[in-house]
Amino acid sequence: MSQTSIMVYSEMGLLKLPLVVLLCSVFSLLSFIALCDASELTVKFLETPQAFSNRSSTTFVFEVLVGGSGACTNCNITCKLDDGSGSIIASECENGTVLCEGLQDGNHKFEVCPNGSQGVGCSSYNWTVDTVPPTADITASTNFTNALNVPINISFSEPCTGGPGFVCSSVNACNLLVHGAGKVIPNSLKILQPNLQYSVLVGLSSTAQYGRVNLVMGKNFCTDSAGNKFERNKNSYFTLRFDRRPMVVNLTTHVSERQVVLGDVNGETRLVRATNNCVKLRICLTFLVPVLNSSAEILKSLEPKILYSLPKRQGKLLPLNVSKDDPGHRRFEFMVRWFSLTYFIFQQ
Ligand SMILES: *[C@@H]1O[C@H](CO)[C@@H](O)[C@H](O)[C@H]1NC(C)=O
Ligand SMILES: *[C@@H]1O[C@H](CO)[C@@H](O)[C@H](O)[C@H]1NC(C)=O
Ligand SMILES: *[C@@H]1O[C@H](CO)[C@@H](O)[C@H](O)[C@H]1NC(C)=O
Ligand SMILES: *[C@@H]1O[C@H](CO)[C@@H](O)[C@H](O)[C@H]1NC(C)=O
Ligand SMILES: *[C@@H]1O[C@H](CO)[C@@H](O)[C@H](O)[C@H]1NC(C)=O
Ligand SMILES: *[C@@H]1O[C@H](CO)[C@@H](O)[C@H](O)[C@H]1NC(C)=O
Ligand SMILES: *[C@@H]1O[C@H](CO)[C@@H](O)[C@H](O)[C@H]1NC(C)=O
Ligand SMILES: *[C@@H]1O[C@H](CO)[C@@H](O)[C@H](O)[C@H]1NC(C)=O
Ligand SMILES: *[C@@H]1O[C@H](CO)[C@@H](O)[C@H](O)[C@H]1NC(C)=O
Repeated sequence: MSQTSIMVYSEMGLLKLPLVVLLCSVFSLLSFIALCDASELTVKFLETPQAFSNRSSTTFVFEVLVGGSGACTNCNITCKLDDGSGSIIASECENGTVLCEGLQDGNHKFEVCPNGSQGVGCSSYNWTVDTVPPTADITASTNFTNALNVPINISFSEPCTGGPGFVCSSVNACNLLVHGAGKVIPNSLKILQPNLQYSVLVGLSSTAQYGRVNLVMGKNFCTDSAGNKFERNKNSYFTLRFDRRPMVVNLTTHVSERQVVLGDVNGETRLVRATNNCVKLRICLTFLVPVLNSSAEILKSLEPKILYSLPKRQGKLLPLNVSKDDPGHRRFEFMVRWFSLTYFIFQQ
């Protein structure tokens, strides 16, 4: 009101003070009505959530202004959340302080329409709710290796750029932590997808014959755009085993050994296990250390060692399931299936 007074006073600078006050009151009342009728209503948001928010409830505070200045006192204000799908308490809307609760993750829109104006004069505020903390998975092409170093992939669930973000500038400043017989090789760090996917080599002790390293993502090094703090998941841990010991395997059956001359194979003398009990003959391979390979792969590598079988293609080795009491993956059993006299000759 006082601003309007000054304006009127300067226009009518020659008038005396009591008259000025009287006139200006009338004038400002007129201008108020005129502006309201002209629907020059604007919405000014005083409090909103962040454009990316980690909160499922939020408060909007706004004012409906007439002609860009004074608050509209006789406006009928309506509010809408997500095009009407979200519930709004009408009295809160009239008040200009609206609490939105139970917001799902995703995009939202809050709209204020003064005096039922459709579109024109309405103001909206868009924001995104994200309550899911960012996390990262550690993967490698193998769990078990004889190599000196292994490439590791780190895949974030979403960009995690708040705070320092993911860094691996030195062994002691790397958000991929390596415990055990190995170290991260920081200068091998590659950005596969900016802010999402990285690859880095982990070097395995060259002095140890075998061992393991435990990899885990660091803590408190980043937040997403909505402020959610990084959290580890079960794939944020990875155990890498290495073994450079030579492979030793024993081949056993319950059939007794005999030295036999086999004319068919260059007349050589061979150690042969012979039986006429055709039922349920098993061959068992036992490895000194666990192996990664499946029974099928073992069989495939065993087959070239079968120098001779008679009659051709009738005898067959069938892999049996790895027994339950062999969690270490060391013992493999094969069933010999045959139809008539069959020889298997294994190369030593
Ligand atoms: C808003 O609409 C009501 C009727 O619904 C009317 O009485 C009032 O004057 C209007 N206010 C403005 C500022 O246009
Ligand atoms: C809303 O309006 C009521 C009266 O209509 C008042 O008591 C209350 O303080 C107001 N709340 C806010 C946040 O303005
Ligand atoms: C406010 O406007 C809405 C929509 O135009 C109307 O349904 C409602 O009756 C109005 N309320 C008042 C108090 O004027
Ligand atoms: C809000 O998003 C809607 C689409 O969801 C778009 O039409 C509208 O222009 C956006 N408003 C603002 C203020 O960005
Ligand atoms: C690592 O990521 C690259 C690029 O996406 C992919 O080609 C490679 O197979 C991944 N390696 C592992 C072990 O996940
Ligand atoms: C790693 O080991 C787990 C079980 O220990 C297995 O389920 C997984 O397939 C292995 N991954 C690779 C890449 O060998
Ligand atoms: C939500 O974000 C704010 C910063 O915007 C942060 O201070 C707060 O810790 C975050 N809450 C959670 C649960 O991450
Ligand atoms: C193989 O057999 C020998 C002699 O019976 C035994 O000493 C050795 O421990 C066995 N090796 C494996 C891997 O089972
Ligand atoms: C056994 O597994 C290793 C590692 O997966 C693989 O490189 C090798 O080719 C496999 N051997 C056979 C006979 O399939």
